[in-house]
Amino acid sequence: MQPAGKRVLSGIQPSGTLHLGNYFGAIQQHIELQATHDCFFFIANYHTLTTLQDAKRLRQLTFDVAADYLALGLDPNRALIFRQTDVPEVCELAWILSTVTGMGLLERAHSYKDKVARGIHASMGLFSYPILMAADILIYGSDLVPVGRDQVQHIEMTQDMAQSFNAAFGTTLLKRPEPRLNASPVVPGVDGQKMSKSYGNTIDIFGDSKDMKKRIMSIKTDSLGVEEPKDPDKCNVFALLKLLASPAETAEWAERYRKGGVGYGEAKKRLHELYEAFFGAKREARAGWAARTGEVEDILATGGRKARAVARELMEKIRDAAGLQTAKQ
Ligand code: ADP
Ligand code: TRP
Repeated sequence: MQPAGKRVLSGIQPSGTLHLGNYFGAIQQHIELQATHDCFFFIANYHTLTTLQDAKRLRQLTFDVAADYLALGLDPNRALIFRQTDVPEVCELAWILSTVTGMGLLERAHSYKDKVARGIHASMGLFSYPILMAADILIYGSDLVPVGRDQVQHIEMTQDMAQSFNAAFGTTLLKRPEPRLNASPVVPGVDGQKMSKSYGNTIDIFGDSKDMKKRIMSIKTDSLGVEEPKDPDKCNVFALLKLLASPAETAEWAERYRKGGVGYGEAKKRLHELYEAFFGAKREARAGWAARTGEVEDILATGGRKARAVARELMEKIRDAAGLQTAKQ
């Protein structure tokens, strides 16, 4: 049964192995929302070409994201999961949006500036990334876009682009989407910066248990001794612990931190246990999906077909509103 309600859409790039930032910033909301909303989730492989130009690896990572979502509880009978490339109309809409979008809007994008500062090639694709993202959102008439805080500016830019298109062509075809954030919109990495595939500071959702233990034990902390009182809100270990522990356990850790007498090593060990209990339990399901490549492909293909049908309907109206004619095929 397809849940009624608002349309939710989100995308995730297959640009690396998914990590706890992706999970607690975005994926957890996606899985929850499938029970109450009409959900469209896609693997943003066109976007990934801006940072990864390796066909074999892109194909593998695209499959991996699908298998990760399925293992984490995405139910293809309730939500669509598909590849961005199965709806090529998004590229057409991106072109149309680019004609109503000022350069100034794109020049203000933090994400572009951050990526260039980190040495990523400043290609046209990287610069116009937010336009393709706007097309992804607008083409399905999305109401809500569940993402981490770093993506909010892109959604605000999408709102501007929808308005510019509607104003230019005297229409209301493009619907204004709203971002939706989780309670913990920025998850820190082991070095205390935002956890990100491109910073080498991740704890992976389905990482090798021993490697992940090492990474957890390497989380950066201050050098306060065991007996000294500590501020839980300034501690990277606590920030991660509270994502996995029950509210009662979190409150207990906060109190122990403030009192003193707890060492960071002990907190890290508990964090590793909680990580194993939560994600370790899903490893078997992940391995199961990895072995059923045909089934994963069918799920993606079916999702893509359904999403494309929705996109095509709106695209016809958009072309018409803009005076773009095409011959009947
Ligand atoms: P990355 O920074 O690792 O490349 P993406 O840009 O592919 O991650 O992000 C995919 C989704 O996960 C987005 O909705 C993004 O906001 C969210 N996300 C990524 N990293 C974090 C984080 N450290 N904290 C919260 N959300 C995050
Ligand atoms: N830019 C997003 C990210 O890096 C991925 C993305 C592409 C997306 N298109 C989208 C997210 C549309 C939400 C909606 O995380």
